[in-house]
Amino acid sequence: MTKSDRTWVEVSRRALLSNFGQFQRFFHSQALIAPVVKANAYGHGNGLVVKTLNHSQVWGFCVAYDSEAIELRPLTDKPLLVLSAWQPINLPTLIRRRIQLVIWDRSAAQAAAQAAQRINRQAIVHLKIDTGTSRIGTRPEALAPLLNYLKRQRWLHLEGVFSHYADSESNSLRLARQQRADFIQAASQVSAPLVHIACTAASLRLPIPPTNLVRLGLGLYGLWPSPATRRADRVRLKPAMTWKTRVLQVKSVPAGTAIGYDRTYRVRRATTIAVLPVGYADGYDRRASNRSHVIISGRRCPIVGRVSMNLVMVDLGRRPVSAGTEVTLLGRGAEADVLAREWSTIGYEVVSRISPNIPRYAAA
Ligand SMILES: Cc1ncc(COP(=O)(O)O)c(C=O)c1O
Repeated sequence: MTKSDRTWVEVSRRALLSNFGQFQRFFHSQALIAPVVKANAYGHGNGLVVKTLNHSQVWGFCVAYDSEAIELRPLTDKPLLVLSAWQPINLPTLIRRRIQLVIWDRSAAQAAAQAAQRINRQAIVHLKIDTGTSRIGTRPEALAPLLNYLKRQRWLHLEGVFSHYADSESNSLRLARQQRADFIQAASQVSAPLVHIACTAASLRLPIPPTNLVRLGLGLYGLWPSPATRRADRVRLKPAMTWKTRVLQVKSVPAGTAIGYDRTYRVRRATTIAVLPVGYADGYDRRASNRSHVIISGRRCPIVGRVSMNLVMVDLGRRPVSAGTEVTLLGRGAEADVLAREWSTIGYEVVSRISPNIPRYAAA
């Protein structure tokens, strides 16, 4: 980080590589791994993560949107797979750059095939089957006519068939087992080299074969999707991200002083308040107001008052620090899963909403 950074994110390359190695050893040779780097690599910086893992034995990288794949194409020659959505107008660019595309129904397949024919290059596609999440994908009962259509499309190269679990991180695996069985049944009708359904939680809790590719997101970043996943205890994960800022102002306030918008907090006794130059516009969630904490000089300091757009106040108690002192917003002592509880959300949201405008630095 530089002295001019107001707030910044440090990402441990060693942690990323170690987490990747943990999953690789756990899967043995049963599956290829495709790191999921959508949403700026879950907030970790997609360029930094792709550069770090590109020389490991990753199959390729998964993103949600076509724009993300186009942005990352110059950084890797490996496959880039768009999982969620692409804009028809971008198809010629995507196909020319060998970006692999989700297709989910006949009109999506048709659009890809027509664009491919127009530029005289096959489109590489993965067929998404909806086995119970009810997001993008064809339902199993609509599969047969779509497959018939696909068989006749010489401008489409069907590289994969995939699905996504709705709740493989929850305590009960009942629905996930059903989804897995339905997917295997549906995928057996499809002739495609890559078959994939597992995410972090499922890859640790359900058997991988007969699928052969795992789309690995949160676990790669060293975070657990849920307590049930952590209990599976199959890999040792190291959180890769630390989010920091520096104290902007320190001031003593008398008993009874109200803090922040709407005066939702009043100090009971005289204390010292630190003002931090970060807010919900940066992704520091407003739900942290009066119920979360940061770490300053190893101490846990509570957030007091409302988190505002650009500033947050914390109570330093009787041990003031000087302006400029480093603050850990997320990291050791303020782990993503702890913040997720305090912010009434999930770790995925805590990390992925940290503004992409904040600089990301590679740490050891
Ligand atoms: C389609 C798809 N596959 C894989 C993943 C990765 O999931 P996880 O981060 O739990 O490993 C996601 C994440 O939301 C996803 O949407």
